[in-house]
Amino acid sequence: MYKKLESLKNLKSKKVLLKLDLNLSFLKNGKIDPENAFRVEASLKTIKYLISKKAKIAIISYIGRPDGSYDAKYKMGKMALVLSKYLNKKVKKLNSALASDISNDILKMRDAEIVLLENIRFYKEEMVNDDKMASDLAKLFDIYVNDAFSNAHREHMSACAISKYLPSYIGFRFDYEIKELNKVLKTKFKNAILIIGGAKVDTKLPVISKLISRFDKVLVGGVMANNFLYSRNINIGKSLFEEKLIKATKKVDSKKIIIPVDVVVSENIDEKSEFQIKDIKNIEKNDIILDIGPKTVKIYLDYIKKAKFILWNGPLGYFEIKKYRKATESMIKEIKRSRAIKYSGGGETVGLLNELKMKNAFNFISTGGGAMLEFLSGKKLPGITYLEKNKLKIK
Ligand code: 3PG
Repeated sequence: MYKKLESLKNLKSKKVLLKLDLNLSFLKNGKIDPENAFRVEASLKTIKYLISKKAKIAIISYIGRPDGSYDAKYKMGKMALVLSKYLNKKVKKLNSALASDISNDILKMRDAEIVLLENIRFYKEEMVNDDKMASDLAKLFDIYVNDAFSNAHREHMSACAISKYLPSYIGFRFDYEIKELNKVLKTKFKNAILIIGGAKVDTKLPVISKLISRFDKVLVGGVMANNFLYSRNINIGKSLFEEKLIKATKKVDSKKIIIPVDVVVSENIDEKSEFQIKDIKNIEKNDIILDIGPKTVKIYLDYIKKAKFILWNGPLGYFEIKKYRKATESMIKEIKRSRAIKYSGGGETVGLLNELKMKNAFNFISTGGGAMLEFLSGKKLPGITYLEKNKLKIK
């Protein structure tokens, strides 16, 4: 079992490295989407606890997938401002996450002060769970706290290797997520449906193959649906899909997977372009699928009405453009009416629910998308395993 942050009462002047998932979406003007602050809100209890105990808090996190190299658009400066606003307290952004660059700043910290390290995904060591980077960083701190459930499915340095070198504790939100999701793992549902859309086919496809035995039907939309359509030899025109995952898609495919029978298509992805509704057999070479069509919505709504358990992750259409989120919206409305047990999660999904003011359609909303799905597939997440293995004591 992992150790809980709440078991630590004497944290005064302790230097705490706090891992959070601040991976939020951005608006077209480059600002962080204020509707998408769920992950920040979810972290507040842990941050405020550390502040109240007068710890020195250094937050380690990331935005986007810069994949181990610097990318100015993913700098954490904006995130420091968002955190400052939520905490009503200055959060100083450091220009690096390397121990050698930040050691002076950490040494100078006062009790209850907060700093935010630069995007840890700028460093390839993060992506390969590097021990040296972890042990160097650990030398600057007394304790490590992980409150980033939504990142726990990645074997990355700031979630995993770091736990080998510092006494490690789980934050309030992370612990709460495990408790909630364990309830689902322990229950066997009849009429269980999984609704899966969005992008990140690479993360979700392997999970579907593991989850499918627990569900009666899997309703697909988004890029995921395009992959299934393509793998069933249906022309998808210029729609986005993951070509290298077609073999894997075929392997996962079964009668349980329900794909769209009609779709909303356009030749361009913008607000102004005209769209058409087409049966999937009529998709033409310049068409881009941007949403599921009305016949499909009706079929999906019927499944929702009969379901006793609903797990939903990922918008079914190109939700950034309002006219392509209609199908998703009507499905969420039906989910809200349903008396099933309803779980949802994931960055984009929660952002959309926030925007539609429909978070209350679900019994539980996880901060995690991929992490939630992997957890519910029964997989032990590396971020949890490392916390459990940690036996180090605070000096
Ligand atoms: C998420 O948004 O689901 C998490 O932050 C993980 O992001 P990733 O898929 O880029 O690892």
